[in-house]
Amino acid sequence: MEKGSSNSNYKVCVTGGAGYIGSSLIKKLLNQGCFVHATLRNLNDHSKVQHLKGLNGAEERLKLFEADMYKAEEFEPAIQGCDFVFHVATPMMHTEGHKYDNRVDATIDAARSIAAACSRSGTVKRLIYTASVMAASPLKDDIDGRSGFKEFMDETCWTPLNLSIAYQNNFLEEYTRAKTLSEKEILSSFDNSSSGGGMEVVTLACGLVGGENTIPCMTGSVAVFLSPLTNDDFAYNSLKFLEELLAKIPIVHIEDVCNAHIFCMKQVSMSGRFLCANGYASTADIASYYQKKYPQYSVKKEYLEGPKRETKWGSSLLAEKGFEYEGHWNLVLDDCIGFARKLEILS
Ligand SMILES: NC(=O)c1ccc[n+]([C@@H]2O[C@H](COP(=O)([O-])OP(=O)(O)OC[C@H]3O[C@@H](n4cnc5c(N)ncnc54)[C@H](OP(=O)(O)O)[C@@H]3O)[C@@H](O)[C@H]2O)c1
Repeated sequence: MEKGSSNSNYKVCVTGGAGYIGSSLIKKLLNQGCFVHATLRNLNDHSKVQHLKGLNGAEERLKLFEADMYKAEEFEPAIQGCDFVFHVATPMMHTEGHKYDNRVDATIDAARSIAAACSRSGTVKRLIYTASVMAASPLKDDIDGRSGFKEFMDETCWTPLNLSIAYQNNFLEEYTRAKTLSEKEILSSFDNSSSGGGMEVVTLACGLVGGENTIPCMTGSVAVFLSPLTNDDFAYNSLKFLEELLAKIPIVHIEDVCNAHIFCMKQVSMSGRFLCANGYASTADIASYYQKKYPQYSVKKEYLEGPKRETKWGSSLLAEKGFEYEGHWNLVLDDCIGFARKLEILS
């Protein structure tokens, strides 16, 4: 699935370069001839550094920088001189010992600071933020949250942060808040184009991302996809939370996510908010698919039942721009299984 593979020698920055999405994106950008500045929190973390340095084209065109969102001024050197910046990093856990009490404030401040550094650079044409559908809940924003879901989930939806959602825990509540407020922060900084010095901003709110990656360890979102098979209670709780927040689970393949990021880079002009997913299935649909296609694994009976919601996927803005998805949601699940077998998590 190598989309838009025409060569480009842009200089780009990818924050969170060693993560699941970051490393897959860097691999594609290098394959397309880009010069990549990638940020990691710790350049002495041998396993992460070696993996990136081993990518095709890395020796000539990949430069690694150390930067932490809790000290967001550290991103400036990596951003300087770049044509495009992909802000992919996000703190999954809070780190103590900084001025922040939680990762929500750190995520928002870093978004603001990275956007300002892009604008100051004088070279960055577009900032592309890896946002999340968790910021785009179709729940109706009423006083007690009992009115249910809107008819469609699309770019007009914003997650109401005042509701208590089933299966919520501290980790999920903070993550949802951080992704919602940081996306709003990035978009609002550039509402007035003069404040961005002509720079454009795109937020790409991705569904739950699955599929194989070359990094040698399991990643959070793939663990969530696999949870009906692995009986990982924490991950399965996250899957159920997503369903309660989003009516169903928006699903997207890692290849499509990376292709969509690169598509956003290659447009002559593009700005605003875009949802990115190619399937919208219930937790019961996911469990039933596994049960039928992979009968060698056992799926608990209770996982085959769940709410059947009428909300439809209503987002078409990315497709209207000309982006074509390739990975149907069944392929996402198949490739999560392939990834788990490679890592010997499933036999
Ligand atoms: N996977 C999904 O289903 C999904 C869906 C929608 C949106 N997203 C978004 O996609 C982005 C990447 O997610 P992922 O799934 O690839 O997760 P991941 O593998 O856990 O990657 C997260 C990245 O963030 C970096 N990071 C964490 N704390 C940081 C900090 N304090 N300062 C700087 N960098 C920090 C990590 O860097 P180190 O390597 O230095 O630890 C890592 O590279 C996130 O913004 C996430 O919200 C993911």
